[in-house]
Amino acid sequence: MRKLLAMIFCFTIVLYSGCTKEEQPVSPGNTDDKLIVVGFSQVGAESEWRVANTENIKDTLTEENGYVLIFDDARQEQENQIRAIRMFIQQDVDYIVFSPKVETGWNSILLEAKEADIPVLVIDRYIEQQDEELYTAYIGSDFYKEGETAVSWLADFLEKRGRKEEPIRIVHIQGTIGSTPQIGRTAALEEAIRKHPNWELVAQECGDFTKAKAYEVMGSILKQTKDIDVVYCENDGEALGAIAAMEEAGLKCDPYGGVIVISFDATRLGLEYCLSGKITLNVECNPLQGPYVDEIIKKLEQGESIEPKNYIDETYFDYSSISREIIDNRKY
Ligand code: AHR
Repeated sequence: MRKLLAMIFCFTIVLYSGCTKEEQPVSPGNTDDKLIVVGFSQVGAESEWRVANTENIKDTLTEENGYVLIFDDARQEQENQIRAIRMFIQQDVDYIVFSPKVETGWNSILLEAKEADIPVLVIDRYIEQQDEELYTAYIGSDFYKEGETAVSWLADFLEKRGRKEEPIRIVHIQGTIGSTPQIGRTAALEEAIRKHPNWELVAQECGDFTKAKAYEVMGSILKQTKDIDVVYCENDGEALGAIAAMEEAGLKCDPYGGVIVISFDATRLGLEYCLSGKITLNVECNPLQGPYVDEIIKKLEQGESIEPKNYIDETYFDYSSISREIIDNRKY
């Protein structure tokens, strides 16, 4: 009954909100009471990674696979995510899946979901909780570990190049402030800088996980200094923006005496830059989370136990290990 009501409600919302056909989950005419209704609130479409994540969830939670998916794009606004989750609660969906923009500010809305007895799966980014268990499961990346992979690779690389004791000037372009990837990747870099007295942070600016913002902030950093050894960007979009600004300013980005660019995500485009040497190291962040969400929901449906925290396996690619074959086989 819950599903039928949700679909009728959703159909009404679709009629009144003028959603595109693609966003219309299903009309009451084709309802199947066995389908599992999932409301998914996505942060936005700020990066290639995010687009791949949305597509993967949509491709997995399909009607053929037993689902009705109600998708909402929050366009980078936390208030929109809260509004969408509230709408899912009113629709009495079976599950709420959401990728939180930042870690804080979710307690009240998640308490509402808990009171309505709707399980919540937090994906991609994490949330800060007060005393209550406000979600059923988390599926995503260990962002601090990604950052640690990057800084230990850098220490190793510099040592092999005989630069272990040399001053290393680092520019840091951060992701959306307060989001889990920013918090984890930033913490790993800052800790490594504290451990290496010769590593110096010459600038730290927010690029908001976009190419445009990173291009802009890198441009203004370059007006102050061009004496830069490493640029640590918190995603591929930022790396592409920072590289464009550096090249315009006459700097070369490569591992052979140019600026060492470190990036995260390892999207196909990011890996093309790695193959050309412009990105020296690209640490993977896996957006293909749909199958994990599917597996957890199916287990919950069967009354089976699940792990509350699920980290996805990830790797890294550098200028020496990347190949055309890897890029061609890449799914995102
Ligand atoms: O939360 C995952 C991060 O957010 C990815 O690194 C980035 O590209 C995205 O926008």
